[in-house]
Amino acid sequence: MSTSVPQDLQTALRERRSVKQYDPGYQMSKEELKELLELTGRAPSSWNLQHWKFLVVHSDEQKQKLLPIAYGQQQIVQSSAVIAVLGDLEANLNAEPIYSEGVKAGALPQEVKDALIGQINAAYQSPQVARDEAIRNASLASMQLMLAAKTMGLDTCPMGGFDQKKFVEAFEVPERYIPVMLISVGKAAKPGRPSGRFPVEEIVVWDRFE
Ligand SMILES: Cc1cc2nc3c(=O)[nH]c(=O)nc-3n(C[C@H](O)[C@H](O)[C@H](O)COP(=O)(O)O)c2cc1C
Repeated sequence: MSTSVPQDLQTALRERRSVKQYDPGYQMSKEELKELLELTGRAPSSWNLQHWKFLVVHSDEQKQKLLPIAYGQQQIVQSSAVIAVLGDLEANLNAEPIYSEGVKAGALPQEVKDALIGQINAAYQSPQVARDEAIRNASLASMQLMLAAKTMGLDTCPMGGFDQKKFVEAFEVPERYIPVMLISVGKAAKPGRPSGRFPVEEIVVWDRFE
């Protein structure tokens, strides 16, 4: 089965569900995955440091390796691919290549680049800042990935249910990166369960807490 292909973002926002059952016969090509990840990489990030790396678990062999680490969740092996979203703990190192492009293009004065890099490196003296920024920004990319997938007629499920330590060991993740979440992607075999939300009155505070 396929869920509907939304025509616009608002529809994607309303129709996205965490899909747990996938059509195992539907294979996403590397090209399709690259298209999805290119849209994902357009997410905003602090200082435009793009604090993310995507480890695409695509082969059956690697999915089988991931299955017990994700506590046997079947979407790992049934979906077309599982994307491990990693946060970059050393995203300050991205400033130089990113801002150099800006200077070369005439969009960023050299002295602004130098000031920004100084500011960033000062902030990254704190491991807590590095970790918060890695998780915050990679989480934005995760949401972007799920919505981009929906607009491409694909379904996803975010997963925090995996053993991070075992994942890092089994997939030889360099120390620079922290696993943020796994996201399965593919074609639904069964729609995600309807899920309720608090009414807007319950999630909003206007101006101040009383
Ligand atoms: C950070 C995060 C971790 C999650 N971990 C899991 C998981 O390990 N397994 C799972 O089946 N669903 C997981 N979910 C999906 C949630 O259960 C789901 O988003 C929630 O019930 C709302 O349903 P909906 O996404 O269909 O609207 C996770 C969602 C988030 C955002």
